[in-house]
Amino acid sequence: MNQRPTILFVCLGNICRSPMAEGALRARAQAAGLDLIVDSAGTGGWHVGEPPDERAQAETLNHGVDISTLRGRQVAPVDFARFTHIFALDDENLANLRRFAPETHDAHLGLLLDMVPGLEGQPVADPYYGGADGFARTWQQVDAAAAALVERFTG
Ligand code: 4NP
Repeated sequence: MNQRPTILFVCLGNICRSPMAEGALRARAQAAGLDLIVDSAGTGGWHVGEPPDERAQAETLNHGVDISTLRGRQVAPVDFARFTHIFALDDENLANLRRFAPETHDAHLGLLLDMVPGLEGQPVADPYYGGADGFARTWQQVDAAAAALVERFTG
């Protein structure tokens, strides 16, 4: 790839899954010495300007990654020009992104876990209404995706 990869993760609220994915990929890219631009956004606008959910922050910090300074934002049309890769965390958000996308754009738009061998087609389930175990599972999934993305962009 001759263009520097710029990666956007998109979930519903941008306070649980996608900021965790952003933190995981930032950490793995840094550890690998890989120069990536990473961001996250929500298809919904309820949590614009808010830090990640405290449970998401706590689970991510358990793995040495601090996402406390991230702030929620809603996906915007310009994101389809700014990012080379846009990954939805589940099918509903992917469908909404496809509806929302400009008629023509060059960004790769896909489901995040399609990047992980063996997890293709699976969603990263929304942990917002559940307990801490849901956030632990979210971390495992987004971190596996982050590892796969680092491998893809270094390989
Ligand atoms: P996320 O979780 O999409 O992983 O950030 C959610 C957070 C908030 C809401 C839904 C999902 N909400 O409806 O407020």
